[in-house]
Amino acid sequence: MGGFSSLARVARGVRRDVQAARERDPSALGVRSVEMVATWPGIQALLAHRVAHAIHRAGVPVLPRAIAYLARALTGIEIHHAAKIGEGLFIDHGAGVVIGETAIIGDGVTLYQGVTLGGTGFATGKRHPTVQDNVTIGSGAKLLGPIEIGHGAKIGANSVVVRDVPPNSTVVGVPGHPVRVDGRRVEGPDTDWIHLPDPVADAIRALSMRVGELERMVSELGGTPPAADPPNVHLLRPVRGRNPAGG
Ligand SMILES: CC(C)(COP(=O)(O)OP(=O)(O)OC[C@H]1O[C@@H](n2cnc3c(N)ncnc32)[C@H](O)[C@@H]1OP(=O)(O)O)[C@@H](O)C(=O)NCCC(=O)NCCS
Repeated sequence: MGGFSSLARVARGVRRDVQAARERDPSALGVRSVEMVATWPGIQALLAHRVAHAIHRAGVPVLPRAIAYLARALTGIEIHHAAKIGEGLFIDHGAGVVIGETAIIGDGVTLYQGVTLGGTGFATGKRHPTVQDNVTIGSGAKLLGPIEIGHGAKIGANSVVVRDVPPNSTVVGVPGHPVRVDGRRVEGPDTDWIHLPDPVADAIRALSMRVGELERMVSELGGTPPAADPPNVHLLRPVRGRNPAGG
């Protein structure tokens, strides 16, 4: 009985995965479902995962790992058999996608090639991201650690995300930071990631001015010509680019 319900769950999952690919991949227009199952690596990897995960839940050893290994060899997509994946996941292109053991993915999520849902080191326990419903993760993005990606969020291509992401936000960059929340540009002093203060340069600049002042006083007292102006202090990390806070 349990076997039948697992089989039904796998079949429903695969049907929803094909439907998701059809809805979100423009190149699927007019392609029959059977052709998509035969040639879309993302669908094949998910089919293999759904079977491997069901077998893993049934307590069968070795086989789930072997299925995940074969799927990886065939598709270039590595999904740990214990990862929990909701309905309607679409993995576009697929190559290089890695989904770790304790990752949890909600419904309606889209992943592009090269996405990693990984851990940050050798921690045990829950160590991979939880991705809520309807999240889109751009190609090459790395999401690391037991972080939570809020529903409807978009993660920009090649971002490295190591902190929780608010729902309905757009996060880009390294490290990933929100540039939009609920469709609105993020404003405020804490959102400027480019024009960060440089306290070391500020301290050296203040010291340099005081040395200059002392040299001027000494030269006045001694009746000697004033020393040259104190050297200008340059930032080690020059500020480039537009202020994301709009300033
Ligand atoms: C992030 C993304 C989803 C766009 O989301 P959005 O909410 O529509 O955001 P916008 O396009 O309005 O961009 C918001 C800001 O982030 C910047 N941005 C967008 N994507 C970025 C990225 N990957 N890296 C760095 N900055 C990025 C934009 O330039 C914009 O900056 P601005 O506000 O200073 O003009 C999209 O840019 C992206 O990366 N998609 C992934 C697509 C992909 O992987 N395709 C592979 C196909 S094979």
